[in-house]
Amino acid sequence: MDKKVTVVGAGNVGATAAQRLCEKELCDVVLVDIVEGVPQGKSLDLTEAAPIEKHDAHVTGANAYDATEGSDIVIITAGIPRKPGMSRDDLISTNAGIVKKVTQEVAKRSPNAVLIIVSNPLDAMCHVAYDASGFAKNKVIGMAGVLDSARFRAFIAMELNVSVESTHAFVLGGHGDTMVPLPRYSTVAGIPITELMSKERIDALVKRTANGGAEIVSLLKTGSAYYAPASAAVEMAESILKDKKKVLPCAAYLQGEYGFKDLFIGVPVKLGAAGVEQIIEIKLTAEEKAALQKSANAVEELKAVLKKIGS
Ligand code: NAI
Ligand code: 2OP
Repeated sequence: MDKKVTVVGAGNVGATAAQRLCEKELCDVVLVDIVEGVPQGKSLDLTEAAPIEKHDAHVTGANAYDATEGSDIVIITAGIPRKPGMSRDDLISTNAGIVKKVTQEVAKRSPNAVLIIVSNPLDAMCHVAYDASGFAKNKVIGMAGVLDSARFRAFIAMELNVSVESTHAFVLGGHGDTMVPLPRYSTVAGIPITELMSKERIDALVKRTANGGAEIVSLLKTGSAYYAPASAAVEMAESILKDKKKVLPCAAYLQGEYGFKDLFIGVPVKLGAAGVEQIIEIKLTAEEKAALQKSANAVEELKAVLKKIGS
């Protein structure tokens, strides 16, 4: 393949993302993990699936970073996931150290890459990666909104018994309990769901979306969601690799947009070869603005924690 993507963290999200990237024949993949044998074993397994899945993407596993040199995109999933009862924010101290180190390793070998951050707490880890990489703001992007919107879309499709393909949804804000699903901008075949469902049902779906990660954690008992998160990260990677310029909700570094400064938070962005090519500002009602402000305050609190722990 003429494109190369490194996935750091060969756990549930990372290995599933690697599988999707190569099965879609988007790129060659380098899978890196700190645990010896795991990235090599999973890469070999994926390579042996290739004749059946009919793709020619090369997948390589490594514990060191030399094989990642010259990557077009680096997807960072390294870290620890949530356990039942844990919030995403409980992960901050451990994952900040991991994401900082990993980012330094990949940034020096792939200075032109776009970084897609997945590790939690997502918006805080984007700040860590942005600082550790020294990359331009358009080259560091967080994955959360695509996942949260996909969850909202799945729930809308179940509720109205329509194809998921006819649904569209936007979820803005930080990737946490304060995320902001936007029913006015969520549609079925272009029709806002506010015209198709009662307020009570919309409120229930909004609540389920905001609680979507925790719902899966409580069912799995160990670990957190990974099929949908991997799909979300790969949709972002595909838009960048193919310069498709999809408009997707992603955590982007805001400098004045939506009234926020020096802050990663989920907003609609255009994703192309340069990474974030445009931040799209949509009109929000006073209530939506207040919800986004609350979510931004939660990310600011995490930034303060990062400062305190020196990350
Ligand atoms: P996992 O535990 O299955 O995989 C994490 C992998 O990272 C492990 O294989 C581990 O060995 C590796 N790792 C740890 N330290 C490392 C280091 N220093 N260098 C390289 N690799 C290292 O966890 P999973 O389910 O894949 O989740 C990964 C992260 O993504 C978690 O922080 C989780 O909370 C987050 N996540 C974020 C989502 C989002 O929407 N942004 C959605 C789903 C997960
Ligand atoms: C999720 O939303 C745990 O952040 C992860 O599933």
